[in-house]
Amino acid sequence: MYSNKVLDAGTPARTSPTSVSLQIDGVPVTVPSGTSIMRAAIDAGVKVPKLCATDSLEAFGSCRLCVVEVEGKKGYPASCTTPCEPGMKVKTQSKKLADLRRGVMELYISDHPLDCLTCPANGNCELQDMAGVVGLREVRYGYEGENHLVAQKDTSNPYFTFDSTKCIVCSRCVRACEEVQGTFALTVEGRGFGSKIAAGPTNFLDSECVSCGACVQACPTATLMEKSIVDQGQPDHAVVTTCAYCGVGCSFRAEMKGNEVVRMVPHKDGKANHGHSCVKGRFSWGYATHPDRVKKPMIRAKITDPWREVTWEVAIAHAASEIQRIQAKYGRGSVGGITSSRCTNEEVYVVQKLVRAAMGNNNVDTCARVCHSPTGYGLKTTLGESAGTQDFDSVDHTDCVIVIGANPTDAHPVFASRMKKRLREGAGLIVIDPRRIDLVRMPHVQAQFHLPLQPGTNVAVLNALAHTIVTEGLAKEDYVRARCDVVEYEKWKAFIALPKNSPEAMAEVTGVPAADLRGAARLFANAPNGAIYYGLGVTEHSQGSTTVMAIANLAMLTGNLGRPGVGVNPLRGQNNVQGSCDMGSFPHELPGYRHVGDPAVRDLFANAWGVPIDSEPGLRIPNMFDAALDGSFKALYVQGEDIAQSDPDTQHVLKALEAMECIIVQDIFMNETAKYAHVMLPGASFLEKDGTFTNAERRISRVRKVMPPLAGMGDWEVTMALSKALGYPMHYDHPSQIMAEIAALTPTFTGVSYEKIDQLGSIQWPCNEAAPNGTPIMHETEFVRGKGRFMITEYVATEERTSRKFPLILTTGRILSQYNVGAQTRRTPNKVWHGEDVLEIHPHDAESRGIEDGQKVSVVSRKGDTTLRAVVTERMQPGIVYTTFHHPESGANVVTTENSDWATNCPEYKVTAVQVSKVAAPRSTWQQGFDSFAGQQESLLPKGGG
Ligand code: SF4
Ligand code: SF4
Ligand code: SF4
Ligand code: FES
Repeated sequence: MYSNKVLDAGTPARTSPTSVSLQIDGVPVTVPSGTSIMRAAIDAGVKVPKLCATDSLEAFGSCRLCVVEVEGKKGYPASCTTPCEPGMKVKTQSKKLADLRRGVMELYISDHPLDCLTCPANGNCELQDMAGVVGLREVRYGYEGENHLVAQKDTSNPYFTFDSTKCIVCSRCVRACEEVQGTFALTVEGRGFGSKIAAGPTNFLDSECVSCGACVQACPTATLMEKSIVDQGQPDHAVVTTCAYCGVGCSFRAEMKGNEVVRMVPHKDGKANHGHSCVKGRFSWGYATHPDRVKKPMIRAKITDPWREVTWEVAIAHAASEIQRIQAKYGRGSVGGITSSRCTNEEVYVVQKLVRAAMGNNNVDTCARVCHSPTGYGLKTTLGESAGTQDFDSVDHTDCVIVIGANPTDAHPVFASRMKKRLREGAGLIVIDPRRIDLVRMPHVQAQFHLPLQPGTNVAVLNALAHTIVTEGLAKEDYVRARCDVVEYEKWKAFIALPKNSPEAMAEVTGVPAADLRGAARLFANAPNGAIYYGLGVTEHSQGSTTVMAIANLAMLTGNLGRPGVGVNPLRGQNNVQGSCDMGSFPHELPGYRHVGDPAVRDLFANAWGVPIDSEPGLRIPNMFDAALDGSFKALYVQGEDIAQSDPDTQHVLKALEAMECIIVQDIFMNETAKYAHVMLPGASFLEKDGTFTNAERRISRVRKVMPPLAGMGDWEVTMALSKALGYPMHYDHPSQIMAEIAALTPTFTGVSYEKIDQLGSIQWPCNEAAPNGTPIMHETEFVRGKGRFMITEYVATEERTSRKFPLILTTGRILSQYNVGAQTRRTPNKVWHGEDVLEIHPHDAESRGIEDGQKVSVVSRKGDTTLRAVVTERMQPGIVYTTFHHPESGANVVTTENSDWATNCPEYKVTAVQVSKVAAPRSTWQQGFDSFAGQQESLLPKGGG
């Protein structure tokens, strides 16, 4: 029978330069100093019985099941809380110890419902196991004494239950919530026999709990139990795979019953998550088998026609003939494709290959265009490589963190927990964000500086920080002179020292007091190890690339690159943003960020692919829309990306989609873009295919098929079929062969293979001859470009300005329970936390407009208007409002503008001048049009679903 038990050494591993030798049951062992007897006993081949200890948590020593005897010492110490000492002689088994342990178990069992046979944890319960281990045969106290067996079950959380009748008050859950997750949602109430676990004043749903699952994972009994296990029973096998949500890239064991997932368990050996998870990866996977999944290919001539279900062959042949017809009529460059950061590296690679080799142009772009394209440009220019510099473990060594334009507790929760742990240990924190995000003040975490800047002034703030460091003599001159281009540095230094960049001059622009800017600069510059973490609040601006370069400047200036605890760390939004960029889905770059204008690079790919490669860069996504509207771009193949919802200035996007003659959408759901499509190709979820994702640390991890594709084909197979129908057959029997081709053609990937990933668990690129096992930390001895390059970062205000008509700035972001366009998370019980997008507004702005909390308000910009429910909150500062874009019917992007980053065209989602006012109508004009179009499109679907 399958066992989902993984070795639990009882207490965390210790690292120490010194070691201790001792004997356990006569077996000599040597362990790092600080190791518990319980953990050392594993090395001696002994598993000491335990209940309150687990190796993900510091020992607590409450159950007394793990008692041992130590020669020369009185009493029976708990092995979990007793550190090894040199020369100790420990006995783990004796008649006395057996009696003591049986006594402990008797007490627990006398207050425990004896329903093991019908308990969902049967066969996977530590209490049950330990009763067996200590040889409990009878309970002398009987079962009739005072007990907790009538307590009510708390089923309020959508994903797990809390049945306190089964609780042994070991506090593993409380400690997991504190130590691993850092939320402090649980407490032990009362004392002695009356003590019990409590989540908030009423229940889990109303508590501070963020449903990360750490307590459920830690619970040794069925007290905290996944509802899926209660419903479906224990799994019969498990497959290790990678979460398909955010760029943390957590590793999970998909626990299966046949072809059905019954539970996703965070994988202890996962190097990005070390056994932790967030609500999305842990629980929100039910969308994969949601009835809305598109399972059959469909085609139609016009978007007002009903969809017709057809075979794969017919759909692919139709799509190919349309592309060929359009190219014959409008030219080779009239078609293109968009890759997806939600798909695997291998799928992205074959889509860009299809565009370049089968369509014969470079019109391929990726959804990273609208999120992290400035990261690629900014870091390549300054450091020489388009990627973050560290691994996540690096944060354990940092002394001061700058978090700018990122909200990790919502968008990168597992990494945020890790960061919070380091902050609780005493690292300094500077938050640069217009909103008072949770990190600013949480249990046992408080930012030394929150710089609540005006949206659009990141560069001004970073320049002011750098100005302070330079003019106060805090720069690490030795580091800079050894590692960076000194001529460029001197030019930059003269620029940054100008009075216009001083905190005093910038205070007016940024809205941040000069004293805070100076204080934050000193804190960061004086920290032995300073690390910068950033997100889309940096990139999605008209100066996105400039901001990334200003971040790199700051890191070089303070000597904070090339070792653990430092670095420039872009937190990637979607699971495979890093990978989709690496795989050559930008219109000017082949895989490995090599420009299509370079003849040697083109020759390499032309020889491998057997076709010439166009030397002209292709169209970026916004240029595709413009070209569609001017009539020169007529067909688009979009894999796994919902441009109609996610891209800015929705009305412009929709007009562009309407102007095209053939839109081919490949997705797991009928998304917003599919409403404008002519060919619908069913996609496969991450559970249905093999491949790899690359996370924000450049970590390549395996995605493994746990069930067959619902529509019969993996996404890479569909792209291959389309390419063949276009006259360019590709030949891969398995995604591992695609990776082999990537490795053969990409210098940073030459050492990557599925075999090596399987062997190492995951690999951080570059992985090649110079770094056969990958590269956790980049730029250690020199920068990839040789000398680091300081770039002049002149602050230029965005053209998007407030005015009398549009006096507020709207900024957008995401929240914990939803993901991106919400296509997945909206189809899970996560709706309970976020059923609609709302507008956060400061009480002053609300009051001056007569707006009350919960009222519907109109949000109008120069581009469009929508209606949202107001949430009045002091998280916002006056003059700034905030919303999310997880629900298509909200139309957040109807309001955002076409402004974009000067270098990469990444849209300026974060700054839109708006007016907000009370409205009587619940839906704006645009929303009413959306509703009626959605209804019409719904009626065109085949009856019984696609
Ligand atoms: S809920 Fe589970 S982990 Fe928490 S105290 Fe009770 S038995 Fe221990
Ligand atoms: S699910 Fe996570 S946040 Fe909620 S109580 Fe458990 S450990 Fe704490
Ligand atoms: S932190 Fe990101 S990768 Fe990890 S479980 Fe959550 S959504 Fe998935
Ligand atoms: S396991 Fe050591 S006291 Fe509980």
